Amino acid sequence: MASKNHYDSLAPFYDTVIGKNNSSKKILLNTAKNYLKSGSKVLELGCGTAENLSVFANKYKLTGIDISEGMLKIARRKIPGGKFVQADIADFDLKEKFDLIFCVYDTVNHLKDFKAWISLFRCVKKHLNEGGIFIFDFNTLYKLNILSQSDIYPEFPGEDTLLLNVRKVTKNLFNWEINYFKQVSGAKYELIKSVIPESGYDTDKVLNEVKKHFSLINISNESFRKVTKKSLRIFCTVKLE
Ligand SMILES: C[S@@+](CC[C@H](N)C(=O)[O-])C[C@H]1O[C@@H](n2cnc3c(N)ncnc32)[C@H](O)[C@@H]1O
Repeated sequence: MASKNHYDSLAPFYDTVIGKNNSSKKILLNTAKNYLKSGSKVLELGCGTAENLSVFANKYKLTGIDISEGMLKIARRKIPGGKFVQADIADFDLKEKFDLIFCVYDTVNHLKDFKAWISLFRCVKKHLNEGGIFIFDFNTLYKLNILSQSDIYPEFPGEDTLLLNVRKVTKNLFNWEINYFKQVSGAKYELIKSVIPESGYDTDKVLNEVKKHFSLINISNESFRKVTKKSLRIFCTVKLE
C-alpha cells in the first residue's frame, strides 16, 4: 500500500486541473441532499482530495477511502474533522455502517476487472445501514471506445498544458495517458506523466449486477435524462432494503 500510486504524482494539481471538470459533483450534491439528515454518516469511496466531501463538512460525519496517500494528504488538510483511510475500495472493512455511500467521477471504472466491481458492490452492501443509499456513476463502454478513437486533446489550465489520450488496451480496458506540462518559468516546463487504467462494461451488465444487491431508485445519464445506448456516463441511486 505504501508504493507509489497513479494518482500520487497528480495529487498536487488534481483540484485545479482534473477535479475542476468534475461534472459528477453537481448531480451528486443534488441527489444526496434528498437523503441526508442531521448527523448522517457519509462515506466516499475513492474520495481523492475530498473536494466532494468538503461540501458536507461540519454537517455530517465524514469518512473517505482512497488508495493514494498523496490524494489523502490533501483530503486530511481540507477536512481536519474527517476520517480518511488508505484502502482498496473493492476490498475494505471499516467495521461501521453509513447512511449514505457514494463513489463518483468514474472512480468505479478505476477497478481492474468486473470481479472487482462486484466486490465493491458487496463491500458497499456490508457498510450500509438498512435503508441506506448508494450513489455512484460510471463511464460507459461506449464513451471509452469513442475517446479511444479520438485525437489527443489538450487543455490549458493557466500557463500549464495538459495532454490527454485514451488508448484501448483490451475490449474492456483503457489507459488514460496523462502528460501534464507544468510551467516552471518562462519557456521551461516540468513534465508530469501518469497512466490511469479504466475498465468499462456494457451498461446492462452493470445494472443487472447492481440489481442483485440493491433496489434501484433512479438511473439517468450525465444530464439527468433517460439512459440510451449513446449515454456517456450513467448515474445510479440505489437503496439497501
Ligand atoms: C477520478 S478520481 C476521483 C476523486 C474524487 N472522487 C472526485 O470526484 O474528485 C479517482 C480516485 O479514486 C482513487 N482510486 C482508484 N482506484 C482505487 C482503489 N482501488 N481503491 C481506492 N481508491 C482508488 C484514486 O486514487 C483517485 O483519488
